[in-house]
Amino acid sequence: MPRQRVAVLISGRGSNMDALIAAANDPAYPAEIALVLSNVPTAAGIERADRMGIATAIVDHTQFGKDREAFERAVQKVLETHRIDIVCLAGFLRLLTPFLVRQWEGRMLNIHPALLPAFKGLDTHARALAAGVKQHGATVHFVVPEMDAGPILAQAAVPVLADDTEATLAARVLAAEHRLYPQALGLLAGGRVTVRDGRCLVDGVPVPVPASV
Ligand code: GRF
Repeated sequence: MPRQRVAVLISGRGSNMDALIAAANDPAYPAEIALVLSNVPTAAGIERADRMGIATAIVDHTQFGKDREAFERAVQKVLETHRIDIVCLAGFLRLLTPFLVRQWEGRMLNIHPALLPAFKGLDTHARALAAGVKQHGATVHFVVPEMDAGPILAQAAVPVLADDTEATLAARVLAAEHRLYPQALGLLAGGRVTVRDGRCLVDGVPVPVPASV
């Protein structure tokens, strides 16, 4: 099976992008990072990807005003030019319309810093602390039109400690994200994932949730 060509979509720091690139440096990994695309021209991750010799693209959403679909048509064009098979959203801070989501059904993943369906949206770590949960974590899921929904491919749980601050909890979750996302992409790119009735199966077996990584 040829390696799947993956585009990583970012808006900023790009530490999950780094984790995916590192995994794909192993020739045995079933995916290669063929493109890093950012909607923010100054995204730090773009410069790093560039230095690593990975193709990069900027599609600045501010150039499209309120026309979200025009922005997405431009993104789609770049993805097609690079013959992309799988899209990984990694800190990509744009809500997508059904237009782009439909193009990539079953081939677009997102990583969210919480154990979905808990704490959708932003500020997940602060809200987890405020809620007093004892476990928090990260989720890799297929992207569907509804935000932070879609079949769950992999989850990693981390403990919430009594003296945690938002920063310490975020750092613990982020370290788990960096292990989780490459694992999850590896499963999808390796052709091991199917979705039945909105739930993911890996090698035909329901995903253990949350899996520890
Ligand atoms: C991560 O916490 C990810 O889960 C969320 O946005 C953050 C992106 O961080 N979607 P980075 O850009 O990958 O460092």
